[in-house]
Amino acid sequence: MRIVNQLIHLEDVPATVIAETYGTPTYVYEENRIRENFRRTLAAFRRYYPDFHLFYAIKCLNNLAVANILRQEGAGIDAASVNEILLAKALGLGGEEVMFSGNFLSDDDIRQGLESGVIFNLDDPSLLPRVLRHGRPQVIAFRVNPGYGRSEVGPFVTNAGPDAKFGVHPDQVLDAYRAARDAGIRRFGAHMMPGSCIRDPEYFGFITGLIMDIIGKASRELQIEFDFIDLGGGLGIPYKPEDKDKPLDIEEAAARVAAAFRQKVAEYGMKPPRLMMEPARYFVGDAGYLVGRVHCIKDSYKRIVGTDIGMNTLARPAMYGAYHHIYVDGREDGPRRAVGLCGQICENTDFWVKDRPLPAGIQVGDLVVVENAGAYGYVMSYAYNGRLRPAEVLVNGDRHWLIRERETFRDLIRGVHVPPHLRPRPARLRKLAR
Ligand SMILES: Cc1ncc(COP(=O)(O)O)c(C=O)c1O
Repeated sequence: MRIVNQLIHLEDVPATVIAETYGTPTYVYEENRIRENFRRTLAAFRRYYPDFHLFYAIKCLNNLAVANILRQEGAGIDAASVNEILLAKALGLGGEEVMFSGNFLSDDDIRQGLESGVIFNLDDPSLLPRVLRHGRPQVIAFRVNPGYGRSEVGPFVTNAGPDAKFGVHPDQVLDAYRAARDAGIRRFGAHMMPGSCIRDPEYFGFITGLIMDIIGKASRELQIEFDFIDLGGGLGIPYKPEDKDKPLDIEEAAARVAAAFRQKVAEYGMKPPRLMMEPARYFVGDAGYLVGRVHCIKDSYKRIVGTDIGMNTLARPAMYGAYHHIYVDGREDGPRRAVGLCGQICENTDFWVKDRPLPAGIQVGDLVVVENAGAYGYVMSYAYNGRLRPAEVLVNGDRHWLIRERETFRDLIRGVHVPPHLRPRPARLRKLAR
């Protein structure tokens, strides 16, 4: 994003062009930024560990246009569900280019996962016999919960540690791999996802040591080699303006990971495994924007600016108390005044901010642009209050494409069936009955 003469541009496309062409609210993704983010990550980690591979956790933005950008760059897919495996297939990816890391799987999930031939990453040892009932995968990984988790998003988004629902307890890891080995499985992987939105490079070295101590012991004890170790996602981006000059130093993170990895591989006498990560936010988070419009300003107990972007279009603030910076098109240089800014949903949690200095001259009809909306944005939107899900647009230079249509009323009633006795009678018959 850049601001030229006070006007917000997404790559080279003015926000006004987006709003006029596609309406509001609309998610916009910058293709070049996504490519840069991916290339920076791959180059940094490969510099320190050449056998390094990136999967994209498609849960965070599942539009196939965006996922195809990452596929072109060389990403595999981390799938959280069978439908995400199908998205990967729609990208032309399969087999060991896809990792299935679902949790609390049903038998149907297991059966379909096996049929798809992707890598199974099991969230609990109890899943292994259930998988084996349906077939024997080539490779099995377990998601390890090392007892430590960290999140810069807040306590709601802690993916590991005693309070998390994910992963295998370290005390169960040895038995889990032993059971897999004894069942005839010969290729193994290990996975972990302890952090969310971390900008501290030290953390990445630290968690590498954690998983490698657990896996190294299993390797030694069970005399098995590991094909790959997957460190999950968690590469962070700054959301607050005061953090903009403190992005994650990806080079340092990569150097620390590789150093810890090599050291532990040597310590446990392992054959060097492939090193993997499956980030999401770091690739697409800061490449995405949400463009909305101001529809109403009221001065009641305080000034509240009402927009067509609410908790239904971007759930993170209401869900996690997450911060997103908001710009007002054409007014960023003006004086500021603390106001509230909300959406149109009938819930009082539908406040972006209750008291944030925004341009004082903000008017009905202005465009607002929310930053860092690429990750966990559209995918968490919903049609509460009959407010339909927004459109998605991709920009590259001064070109722009609609990559997902805005929902219409038809989507609201798609698949809904009213039994005959509940259907309204035609108006003519209602009149006769009166
Ligand atoms: C298993 C798994 N891998 C990867 C990710 C992506 O995480 P991030 O967006 O922090 O990179 C997530 C996010 O929840 C996840 O659950």
